[in-house]
Amino acid sequence: MNINLAVIPGDGIGPEVTGEALNIIKAVAGRFSHNITFTEVMAGGAAIDLYGEPLPQETLDICKKSDSVVLGAVGGWQWDNLLGDKRPERALLGLRSGLGLYANLRPAVLHPALAAACPLREDIARKGIDIMVVRELTGGMYFGGRGRERIDMVEAAWDTELYSEEEVRRIAIRAFDTAMLRGKRVTNVDKANVLESSRLWREVVLSVAKDYPRVSLNHMYIDNASMQLVRDPSQFDVIVTTNMFGDILSDEASQITGSIGMLPSASLGASGFGMYEPIHGSAPDIAGRDLANPIAAILSAAMMFRYSFGLTEEADAIETAVTKTLEAGYRTADIYSDGMKRVGTKEMGALIQKEAAGVEQ
Ligand code: IPM
Ligand code: MG
Repeated sequence: MNINLAVIPGDGIGPEVTGEALNIIKAVAGRFSHNITFTEVMAGGAAIDLYGEPLPQETLDICKKSDSVVLGAVGGWQWDNLLGDKRPERALLGLRSGLGLYANLRPAVLHPALAAACPLREDIARKGIDIMVVRELTGGMYFGGRGRERIDMVEAAWDTELYSEEEVRRIAIRAFDTAMLRGKRVTNVDKANVLESSRLWREVVLSVAKDYPRVSLNHMYIDNASMQLVRDPSQFDVIVTTNMFGDILSDEASQITGSIGMLPSASLGASGFGMYEPIHGSAPDIAGRDLANPIAAILSAAMMFRYSFGLTEEADAIETAVTKTLEAGYRTADIYSDGMKRVGTKEMGALIQKEAAGVEQ
C-alpha cells in the first residue's frame, strides 16, 4: 500500500514519543512492504512561536490531503497566558472540526504485565479492564455558542451544550458498530435526568439500538458512571458519550489502567481518514529528558493501521511487540515497579521497534 501521512510532533514530549512511533511505523512498513511517506507540519505552541497562530491554514490543508495524521501533543506553560483562540489547544479543536473527526475512540486496557500499576483494589483489578470509550468529538459544549457579558452589573459567561439528532445518530452508530466487533455491550452515558440535550441524546441512541438487536444497551447518568468505573470497571465494554463527558470519563478510564502513558486514541470521520494521538498531554516537566513513555504514541500507530487502512496484521504486530517488551520486564519511569528493567523513551522505542520489525533478538 502507498500511504501518505501528515505528522504533527507538537510540543513538550510530543516530538520524542512521535519520533519513536514513526520508527515503528517505518519498521512495520518495511516488514509488510508498504511505501509510507511523511510530511511534517506544525500546530500548537510550536506553530504559535513560528507563525503567531496555533493552527496555520497550511497545516490543515496538508492534513486534508494526507491519508491520516499522526499527532504528538500540544501545549505547555510558555503559552498558558494566551487567551481563547490563541491557545495551543485551539489547534486540536480546529483539527478535529476542520477534518470532520467526530468519533473519538479511546481504549482503556489493563495489560496483565502492568497489573501492579493499577490503583484499584486487587480483587477489582483481577476481573480485568477492557473498555472502549467512544466520545463525540466535534459537538456539544466544546463547539456550541459561548459568550461573556455583564448581567445585572456582574461578569457572567456561558457555554452551550447543543446536539442535533444527526450528530448523535452518527456517533451512536459508531459505538454500536464498535460493540459488534467486541463484547456486544453498549453503555450510554448522559445526564438525561437534568439536561434537555441528554434527553434527545438518549432518544436517538435508543432508536439506533433498534438496528442492533445483538447488542445489549444500558444507560447511566454521568455521575453514576464515573463511580461505577472505579467500583467495577469489568462491567463495561463500549461506553458512548458526549464530548464533555467523554473528556472526563476517558481520563478516569486511563488512570485505572495504571498510566495515562499507555493509552492511544483514534479520531475518525465518515471516511477511513483519521488522526492518531496518545491521550496524554505534552508533559512539559519531563520534556527532552528521555523519560516519557512512548507506548501510547506507538499503540496509536497500531490503531491507525487497523482503523484507517484495514491492515490488521500490521496493527497486531505492533500490539504484540508492545506486549512482549512489557512481558520482558522493560518499563519507563511512569510504569516502573521493583525488579523491573528501567529504560528511557529511546530504548523503549528501540526494543519495541525490533520486535515489530520481526528481527530476532
Ligand atoms: C483531550 C484533551 C483536550 C480535550 C484538550 C487539550 C483540548 O483534554 O484530548 O482529552 O479537552 O479534548
Ligand atoms: Mg482530556
